[in-house]
Amino acid sequence: MAEVVIVPDRAAAGALIAEEIAALIARRPDAVLGLATGSTPLPVYEALRSRLAGVDVSRVRAFALDEYVGLDPAHPESYRSVIAREVVEPLGLDPDRIRVPDGTLDGIEHHGEDYEAAIAAAGGVDLQILGIGTDGHIGFNEPGSSFASRTRVKTLTRQTRADNARFFPSIDDVPRHCITQGLGTILDARHLVLLAFGERKAAAVAGAVEGAVTASLPGSAIQLHPHVTVVIDEPAASRLAHADYYREAFAGKPEWQGL
Ligand code: GLP
Repeated sequence: MAEVVIVPDRAAAGALIAEEIAALIARRPDAVLGLATGSTPLPVYEALRSRLAGVDVSRVRAFALDEYVGLDPAHPESYRSVIAREVVEPLGLDPDRIRVPDGTLDGIEHHGEDYEAAIAAAGGVDLQILGIGTDGHIGFNEPGSSFASRTRVKTLTRQTRADNARFFPSIDDVPRHCITQGLGTILDARHLVLLAFGERKAAAVAGAVEGAVTASLPGSAIQLHPHVTVVIDEPAASRLAHADYYREAFAGKPEWQGL
């Protein structure tokens, strides 16, 4: 099962995962990170700024989970722009080693396959950061997504477009389509780190961690992976049946085990 770590706040989650990423880069200077967008991973990127100061990150590689289709890549809310602004520039990563799925319409039918080939050529993702949508999506794999799916074009649900409308002038400006790593792609990463904060995410977290494994809640795919760390605050943990057990297990964990 996933290891569930209940932290006091977002900053504690950021510090915990930044430490894990720094240790990974120390072991493997050309580590392959899996990057997520949305507000959830921001505390990790924030903590990495100081944690990686002075560390040679010139060989670090990364793949983002997803991108809107048909949005100008230069648009400030394209995930290409967000990843550049929130991760690549502040951490001083080499932009040539960071990939985001190509959501431009020209050749879109091949962009998923090309992305899969690039991930495979890099040797796969070492540590994949994940948020979770209020409908249980990970990446942009909406309910019903196959657990075997690979990077492809998907249609966003109304709920996801409404959730993401805060980044655009109105919901009508939120693209209807996206290109996202599939659940099968995500499950191939060697370590999954799913973060969630706030009461709004409590139902999705409980479904993903303790509910039935079902395509109706794509986040439940994490139950099929042998190495998952779920880092959540108290409100996001509020619907878990076994929260006390997770607290006890983490508190008593020998240090040598790491995350
Ligand atoms: C978007 C992203 C997801 C992210 C989700 C949650 O839909 N494609 O990768 O997990 O939003 O967003 P937030 O972290 O802002 O709640």
